[in-house]
Amino acid sequence: MKKIIVAIDGYSSCGKSTVAKNLAKKAGYTYVDTGAMYRAVALWAIEHNALEAERIIPRLEEIHISFRKTEDGQHTCLNGRDVEKDIRRLEVGNAASQISQIKEVRAYLVAQQQAMGKEKGIVMDGRDIGTVVFPDAELKLFLTALPEVRAQRRFDELKEKGETPDFEAVLKDVNERDYRDTHRAESPLRQAEDAKVVDNSHLSREEQMEVIYELFEAACK
Ligand code: DC
Repeated sequence: MKKIIVAIDGYSSCGKSTVAKNLAKKAGYTYVDTGAMYRAVALWAIEHNALEAERIIPRLEEIHISFRKTEDGQHTCLNGRDVEKDIRRLEVGNAASQISQIKEVRAYLVAQQQAMGKEKGIVMDGRDIGTVVFPDAELKLFLTALPEVRAQRRFDELKEKGETPDFEAVLKDVNERDYRDTHRAESPLRQAEDAKVVDNSHLSREEQMEVIYELFEAACK
């Protein structure tokens, strides 16, 4: 089977990273979480008081992101420091949403992402993978699910963490993030023309993986 590039894009909270991780494992491919890269840049910007474009752009070369394999999966490192836990904080996610709108930040990360795909055998997830990073990817997936379904999943996750979320507030946040992701000036989230759309609103994880693995095998022929 030939080695390919799999580009996975889609809305927030629709299970992109779970799908990408599972597919990479099953195929023996490398998984790259590009959201984690934007989050790591955001963490650096918070720590260096450099969230504004004019402060971060001249210092981008000081930010080095890498990934290391651990027993519980892949961890993101910022200048050699394991920041996997820190980058998942809500505050960092919001800062990532902010700095990901800066054209120069995107160009800096996109160049690194493209270099990671040189040897193929990669599954990358994000918002602009099939449209900007790898417009020639052999398989492009666009994941989607109804906003209410995604809000319910996030609501359940928060409850599991011991929080007491309000469903309407979670749904509002999902809708607002969708709007921001699809309306920003730089590389807005959109479906590539040749992407295969997978709506997982009513699919179990197993059913979804079955559909996706079939698409993967077909793309490798
Ligand atoms: O997928 P995530 O929530 O970890 O992404 C964090 C932020 O980074 C989110 O606001 C969207 C942005 N992002 C992006 O603009 N382009 C990507 N390829 C991946 C993430």
